[in-house]
Amino acid sequence: MANEKSITLEINGRRRETTITANQTLLEVLRGLEYFDVKSGCEKGDCGACAVLVDGIAVDSCLTFAATLDDRSITTVSGLGKGEQLHPLQKAFTEMGSIQCGYCTPGLIIAAKSILDENPDPTDDDLRLGLSGNLCRCTGYTRVFDAIQSAAKVMRDGGEQG
Ligand code: FES
Ligand code: FES
Repeated sequence: MANEKSITLEINGRRRETTITANQTLLEVLRGLEYFDVKSGCEKGDCGACAVLVDGIAVDSCLTFAATLDDRSITTVSGLGKGEQLHPLQKAFTEMGSIQCGYCTPGLIIAAKSILDENPDPTDDDLRLGLSGNLCRCTGYTRVFDAIQSAAKVMRDGGEQG
């Protein structure tokens, strides 16, 4: 079709070539490629469930046209760990009761990774600001902040692999 285009994305370290249409979002493309850890929520930039890293920066994939991302590097939540080894954020969320229904969790972890890359020792107010685009209906956020602070300490102490 005339408005189709072939692009290559590096997704979680693996190069994937795919054919897209001009109006396809990154969210649609990732889920079409079976990256179901990227969640579809509001699809209009309000909930943060669809967040992924593009070249290390958190973006809402529902608001990002895939056509703009040829040859860019995408990281979804499942790409954060190393093999079987969980990333400190993944570990802290699972161990500290920070996941209830879990729908918001991939986006929260991606947003938290982006925050900690910029600021390894954030206050809770920094987290509140940084996560203002991520909605969670279940946890009340306290345990989310606790998990991020715990992971931040592990990472400051040199516990982040890779
Ligand atoms: S699904 Fe993208 S922000 Fe809600
Ligand atoms: S754990 Fe259910 S929306 Fe956050």
